[in-house]
Amino acid sequence: MTNKKITIIDGQSNNETELPVLDSILGPNVVDIRALEKNLGYLSHDPGFMATSSCESKITFIDGNEGKLWYRGYPIEELAEKSNFIETAYLLLNDKLPNNKELDNFSNDISNNFNVDPSVKKIIEVFDKGSHPMAVMTACLSFLSAKYHDDINIQNKGYRYQSTVKLISSVPVMSAWILNFILGVKFQEPNKHLSIAENFINMAFPNINEEQKKLSSNAMDVIFLLHADHEQNASTSTVRLSGSSETSPYAAIAAGIQTLWGPTHGGANEAVINMLEEIKNSDKDVEHYINMAKDKENSFRLMGFGHRIYKNYDPRAKIIQKIAHEYLDKLDENNPNKPLFDIAMKLEKYALEDDYFVSRKLYPNVDFYSGIVLKAIGVPQSMYTVIFALARTVGWVAHWNEMIEDKNFRIGRPRQLYTGKDKTNYTELKDR
Ligand code: CMC
Repeated sequence: MTNKKITIIDGQSNNETELPVLDSILGPNVVDIRALEKNLGYLSHDPGFMATSSCESKITFIDGNEGKLWYRGYPIEELAEKSNFIETAYLLLNDKLPNNKELDNFSNDISNNFNVDPSVKKIIEVFDKGSHPMAVMTACLSFLSAKYHDDINIQNKGYRYQSTVKLISSVPVMSAWILNFILGVKFQEPNKHLSIAENFINMAFPNINEEQKKLSSNAMDVIFLLHADHEQNASTSTVRLSGSSETSPYAAIAAGIQTLWGPTHGGANEAVINMLEEIKNSDKDVEHYINMAKDKENSFRLMGFGHRIYKNYDPRAKIIQKIAHEYLDKLDENNPNKPLFDIAMKLEKYALEDDYFVSRKLYPNVDFYSGIVLKAIGVPQSMYTVIFALARTVGWVAHWNEMIEDKNFRIGRPRQLYTGKDKTNYTELKDR
């Protein structure tokens, strides 16, 4: 902390207070307003937390204007090229890249925990086949939180490591089981000699050939890596808030999964494929939809284009664009998804050339390409958000650990601006 301060003067009473300014390493500095109520009698008001820093964090840095996404200081582009999901998980959790021995130990701890309690399969089977997999996944997490309830000891580092590893290992295995169930395939068993992505593909698609498995596992590993963390978004903030009550980490992750499920958070890549299907099945051409998106009188928007934070280019999109193109280049003419992907490529071309999109910097985002890649791998649309949750579990547990280790750790309890009635006397029913 520096000695910088901000002075706030109350125009009504002329009282004033000095509030400390906390320096960030990168990005805007923040004003510590904790003494505001005590010194001047005010709270701060910030619906949607658009201007509020809720915690100190060393995990992820985003600069939307510059198109930067860094995990523990490492640019996402470099990690996607040189690292892999397991090593990146270690980095997010430990603030350093592992040496050989550390990586081996961590990888072994992960794969040794692939042996999820088989009773989880019974939980999955209770659901109707058409149930949304995010609801099924939450039930699986509930099972784990019941199973490990008696051990909760969040202040203990050993307990935190065990539950961290269990979560990172179990969610992919349970995701594959949910996928088996949806596709009507016999539940497959995990293979502890494989990485998380290889094991997921191996369990989810037992009938594809080795070459397809390799291609899909490589693509999936990058998708996991790109989605592993994204700073204080809604689901991560939910995990922090939920975990701040000292509930079990399994319960806190279940809360994160429920938040991620919403269409304005994790559901965008599913929306991309729905839009492509709609265009494919309509009698209108791509130009018609482009014109609809440009028409201010029409509420239609091109799904998978634009970003709230990345006003330059989503760095994740560049990486996954390459994978999507590699996939599509290999597709043979008879592939049933070919017409869908042709539409996607036409949309991409428009967005990169048409002045409406170029001038507004409406580039294709990560969801546009991840939707395409997941479709090409054969993942059913309803599972896309589960894949996202699987990857983001790493970020969620990294934030959960960081929060508990923070010297300021306490239960999260936002305040409010009360705009309801003043004290009101009860009216008897007969008099109403
Ligand atoms: N199609 C057509 N026009 C668009 C689109 C779009 N997808 N997105 C933005 N615009 C226009 C918008 O109409 C506005 O035009 P004008 O300046 O003439 O009024 C301009 O671009 C700026 O848009 P905005 O609404 O101010 O941008 P925003 O930051 O509020 O919205 C967004 C960002 C992602 C919600 C929006 O671009 C959108 O709805 N995109 C489609 C849905 C989507 O792909 N969501 C996934 C986002 S990535 C999620 C993640 O990182 O996990």
